[in-house]
Amino acid sequence: VTQAQPNAHPPTDVPAYSLPHRNARVLLMRRPVGIPQPADFAIAEADLPEPAPGQLVIRNIYLSVDPEQRGWALAEPNYSEPVALGSPMRALAVGVVIKSRAAAFAEGEFVYGWFDWQDYAAVDPAKVLMRARWGLPLADFAGLLGINGLTAYLALTQLGRPNAGDALLVSTAAGAVGSLVGQIGRILGCATLGLTGGDEKAELCLSRFGYNYAFNYKRQNVSEAIADAAPKGLNIFFDNTGGAILDAVLRQMATGGRVVQCGTASVAAWNPPPVGPRNEREVLTRRLVWSGFVIFDHQALFVRAAERLANWAIEGKLVSQSDIAAGMDQAPGAIASPYAGENTGKKLIYVG
Ligand SMILES: NC(=O)c1ccc[n+]([C@@H]2O[C@H](COP(=O)([O-])OP(=O)(O)OC[C@H]3O[C@@H](n4cnc5c(N)ncnc54)[C@H](OP(=O)(O)O)[C@@H]3O)[C@@H](O)[C@H]2O)c1
Repeated sequence: VTQAQPNAHPPTDVPAYSLPHRNARVLLMRRPVGIPQPADFAIAEADLPEPAPGQLVIRNIYLSVDPEQRGWALAEPNYSEPVALGSPMRALAVGVVIKSRAAAFAEGEFVYGWFDWQDYAAVDPAKVLMRARWGLPLADFAGLLGINGLTAYLALTQLGRPNAGDALLVSTAAGAVGSLVGQIGRILGCATLGLTGGDEKAELCLSRFGYNYAFNYKRQNVSEAIADAAPKGLNIFFDNTGGAILDAVLRQMATGGRVVQCGTASVAAWNPPPVGPRNEREVLTRRLVWSGFVIFDHQALFVRAAERLANWAIEGKLVSQSDIAAGMDQAPGAIASPYAGENTGKKLIYVG
């Protein structure tokens, strides 16, 4: 894209937003021990940022809360550099361009990208992951069409390689990523089974996200439940938890099954490495393909994937659920919430 162009279909449900004279920011003040807690952050104000030549200034409206932020806050690099202490917490956000010195972006455009936990961000165009150019609620651009939806679609289709009739099991089945994996799997003809950590969430999986089966792993015997629901074994396990759930599910895989390792939400710490059963024999005898997925390897496919997701949503085949808190002061405690299983759907902070 080289020229400014209006959004083809502007987003709907754009909430009111003000233009404060100071930039409130959530700064990372110390390295968290375990899950980030409010005391690891401070909220401070700064002057309004000005765009350098080629840059744009975004007024954030929804800040994204993602389990991955836990890893970004630590001192050890994982697949990205650690957030520097004293700087705004790295985050995705949806906002509106209020100043543009970049030819490709017009003031008034709604965009999604790396704008961090703050009211305003001055960024290079490369920080924009996507324009909000489908007629869907603005919040969906941080969830359904953001990294959650993109991860669900790309990890499932690229690594899970679903065929009609496959039995697909999803962990964190009612979460932001999982709820979409289940729905996309169903659209692509799979029989869908969801694992989640509560009865209400299991009910939501059946009633709202269209799973054929849903189990509460805290109350039910996962192995028995899966064996009953998928007697020929699982063709795909889309795993967001790792740990004991993965250990149990590997023994339920059909020959030639695909395990997509998308998250490890159940593993509290990796140092020292957690100890569990040895599973290589299961991988070998069942001829499993066990693949790791990192969404940012697939950036070239984002717009095409979002187009597909948006069309399904507009046709009413895909529903999303957002869990929206209001106020910048909600951000510091928000990363802990998905790890406590408190969220249903995509966790966002409205800061307009
Ligand atoms: N690889 C990538 O590129 C990529 C991209 C996006 C997201 N992800 C991963 O995808 C996963 C889901 O992300 P999301 O944003 O959609 O979050 P989410 O599912 O909305 O929230 C996380 C969920 O994890 C579950 N959980 C928390 N602690 C657990 C535990 N000890 N054991 C089992 N489950 C636990 C909870 O669901 P239950 O109550 O149902 O257990 C919680 O609601 C995360 O692991 C995230 O890191 C990966």
